[in-house]
Amino acid sequence: MKLRLLINPLARGAYFQQVEEVAKAELIHCFFQGQQIETQHIHEGNLEFMELDLPKDQCEQGQLKPQDLDGLLKLSWVQAIFYVKQIDDSLYLKLEAQNAQFKQSGALVWGSKYRGKTHELVTQLALNLTLASSHTQQKKLSLLDPMAGRGTSLLWAARYGMDAYGVELDPMAVEHFERDVKRQTKLHRIKHSVEQSTSKKGKRKGQGRYIEFKWVDSLTRLTVGDTRQADQYVGAKRFTHLVTDLPYGIQFTGAKGERGPLSIIEAAAKTWFKLLYPGASGAIIFNTLQPKRVNLEQAFIQAGFTCEPFTIPHRMSESIKRDILLIKKPL
Ligand SMILES: C[S@@+](CC[C@H](N)C(=O)[O-])C[C@H]1O[C@@H](n2cnc3c(N)ncnc32)[C@H](O)[C@@H]1O
Repeated sequence: MKLRLLINPLARGAYFQQVEEVAKAELIHCFFQGQQIETQHIHEGNLEFMELDLPKDQCEQGQLKPQDLDGLLKLSWVQAIFYVKQIDDSLYLKLEAQNAQFKQSGALVWGSKYRGKTHELVTQLALNLTLASSHTQQKKLSLLDPMAGRGTSLLWAARYGMDAYGVELDPMAVEHFERDVKRQTKLHRIKHSVEQSTSKKGKRKGQGRYIEFKWVDSLTRLTVGDTRQADQYVGAKRFTHLVTDLPYGIQFTGAKGERGPLSIIEAAAKTWFKLLYPGASGAIIFNTLQPKRVNLEQAFIQAGFTCEPFTIPHRMSESIKRDILLIKKPL
């Protein structure tokens, strides 16, 4: 069965010229369990598609199974799915689906724009990659973002119905997160309750203060704190997934004046390891200039993780290239 997947125009802003490669890598990792398949990139006027032939075992009476439709629609770059039919000399596209089923409004993720925000689609991509890689026995999925900023990954997790905890050093980021989420819940009448409190206090003023939103079937909590002590802020909670976007080396200077976030990862990776269930997987978004992939891998291996050979490099701006490292806590 021939399908065309319409590429969301926003994906160009997220992946630049590498849209085609990123889209294919995500499709293969998340939908075809790493098995290579043939695809074709097609431009029709302003529209861009990926065309593929779906293997017979993935169809039921000439149609995609409902869970597969939803799985495809949740790929970060897919805007709509069309069936392709050739009748005589004409090609027909039948719109099959265009809305994935999420537990929460998209406004939570897309509603606020700010400097330093990780691109919404890149964050969804990272979450999708870990969802495809994780093999824990846990029924309830849960996400840790140990350098959460203003919580893009946490809010994606809420859309996927996952509990999510974040730790963020900057108290202002946590305040902004609180203000932004409250604004969106009001504007879009999103059912929730809010709690503010302080978990174990850290060395600096404000550390341990958290804001927690309870949704119908999950919760989202962001705590002010240093990721190296992340275990102090999440209590007994353990996680099936980890997604984080490392601070960008160019702006980031560590505690001893070193450039790039490697020393923080070296100091924090053991704590992150402790907070994950066996079989859990993580996606680390990073700027390929700082740190080097090999050093990042080394830091995680030292802490007990394994690293997948997966790579998905793409330009993030004129000067910065981004990649995602997939790590796993062995079973
Ligand atoms: C690239 S930003 C994350 C942006 C976030 N994904 C978002 O969309 O809002 C990296 C974050 O790591 C935080 N950070 C840096 N060092 C940290 C530490 N030691 N502990 C916790 N967070 C830290 C920075 O304050 C920054 O907000």
